[in-house]
Amino acid sequence: MKIFIDTANVNEIREAESWGILSGVTTNPSLIAKEGRDFIEVVKEIASIVDGPISAEVISLDHEGMVKEARELAKIHPNIVIKIPMTIEGLKAVKILSKEGIKTNVTLIFSSAQALLAAKAGATYVSPFVGRLDDVGTDGMNLIEEIVAIFNNYAIDTEIIAASIRHPIHAVNAALAGAHIATIPFKVLKQMTKHPQTDLGIEKFLEDWKTVPKK
Ligand code: E4P
Repeated sequence: MKIFIDTANVNEIREAESWGILSGVTTNPSLIAKEGRDFIEVVKEIASIVDGPISAEVISLDHEGMVKEARELAKIHPNIVIKIPMTIEGLKAVKILSKEGIKTNVTLIFSSAQALLAAKAGATYVSPFVGRLDDVGTDGMNLIEEIVAIFNNYAIDTEIIAASIRHPIHAVNAALAGAHIATIPFKVLKQMTKHPQTDLGIEKFLEDWKTVPKK
């Protein structure tokens, strides 16, 4: 499973990139808004840090507007992937963009039916939102399992991005379910590095090292 970082914060992206674990970045309008910076400027900077797919989302609701925005965003860098919301207008936009060779990530996926339609329209990626499904009392990871099974049944090459990841167990279960990618917030990536036994182990090794005779 590849790991993307789910943030528009360039400091977080730079730090995660230095760990050697990153394959891409996803942003959304809420994450961009948190940075208080120009959208295009942020996307350009992200593209200069990470050599992998970078999702940038359109805000139009009609397919003509989505396609127009997508064409502009795609000019920024060859790694830009256009994030399109899962609507009928979104599907129309995906169909047009895929014919033009512009990669798309269909976002706000909350059912397998939506994922199947997005893939049929030509989406490069689909983003099922695990955490937001958990928030409303359903098991978000079931959705990842269903989509993996459906895409495997028909050798569909659209990649599944497990999104709305809230904690390390989500990331592990997404990997067990066979998601191609998990897009993970920086806070969760840091939590994934940690285990109390690792810290205790280092402490003990350093303590014991003090007793080793030195010449
Ligand atoms: C996915 O691409 C979205 O940006 C993201 O994972 C949404 O996560 P949230 O539900 O924590 O906002």
